[in-house]
Amino acid sequence: MKIIRLKEIDSTHKLAIRMIESNSTIECGIIADIQTNGVGRCERKWESAPGNLYASIIKKIPKNKDICKISLMAACAVHETVKNLLDPEKKEHLYLHWPNDIYYKNKKLSGILLAVVDNWVVISIGINIHSVSTPTAVSLDSIVGGFSVSAQQLFGSILEMLDRWLALLQNDDFSSVRKYWLRNIVEMDSEVTIKNGSDSLSGIIRGIDELGRLVLECNDQKLYISSGDMFLNEQKIMVNYGEKK
Ligand code: BTN
Repeated sequence: MKIIRLKEIDSTHKLAIRMIESNSTIECGIIADIQTNGVGRCERKWESAPGNLYASIIKKIPKNKDICKISLMAACAVHETVKNLLDPEKKEHLYLHWPNDIYYKNKKLSGILLAVVDNWVVISIGINIHSVSTPTAVSLDSIVGGFSVSAQQLFGSILEMLDRWLALLQNDDFSSVRKYWLRNIVEMDSEVTIKNGSDSLSGIIRGIDELGRLVLECNDQKLYISSGDMFLNEQKIMVNYGEKK
C-alpha cells in the first residue's frame, strides 16, 4: 500500500477526505509528524504535538459496508497491535472503550475517527506515543517506560493488522470482531451514560449485538445504540479499570 509521509499537515483525516473529493485517491496510508488542525470525534480538537502517531488510511469500502462494524473492527486492529508490544502484565490493562477508543487502565491511549465518502472509508488513528494533552490521557512511553518504536513503525504494524481484521469483515465474519470486543470491553455490566449531542441515556452495558450496536439496558428494556460517547458512572471507574473481569 502506498504511504504518504508528511512533516506537517492540518489534519491527515481532512487531507484524506479532500483527496477522495478531488477524485485523486487510491487506497493509501497518510502519516504526519505534526497536525496543525487535528480533529477528534464529535468535532472536538485533537491536539497534535510532535512525537505521537497521526495517521489516516483510505480504503475502498468493504462489501459489507456497515460503518458501525468497520469502526469496531478498526479498534480491534489498533488494540491488538498495541497489545503485542506490551509485557504480559500490562496487556491485562489494555481495554477497548466503546465506540472505538483504546484505554490503558482508566486513561485514553488512542482514538479513532471514521468518515465515509462515496465508496471510500477513511480510518484515522491517533495514538499517544510520547506526550498527552490532558490528564485523562496516557502515552505508550509512560506505560512502557521508554517506548522505542517510531510512529512510522507502529503505523506499519497497524496497517498489517488492519488488513487481517478487514479480511474478516470482507468474509462476513463479524462474529470474530464481536467476540474480541466482548473479551476486551472494560465496561461490561457496568452503569454508563451515553451522550449523543444534547441527548443522554444512562443504563447498564450488556454487550455488542450482531449488527455492531451497543446493547444498553435501561429500566429493564434493551436499547441498541450505534453512535455516541460513553462515560462510566464515576463511582465504578476505579473498580472496573483496576481489575479486569
Ligand atoms: C477521537 O476523538 O478519539 C478520535 C481522534 C482521532 C485523531 C486522529 S489523529 C490522525 C487523524 N487526523 C485527525 O485530524 N484526526 C485523526
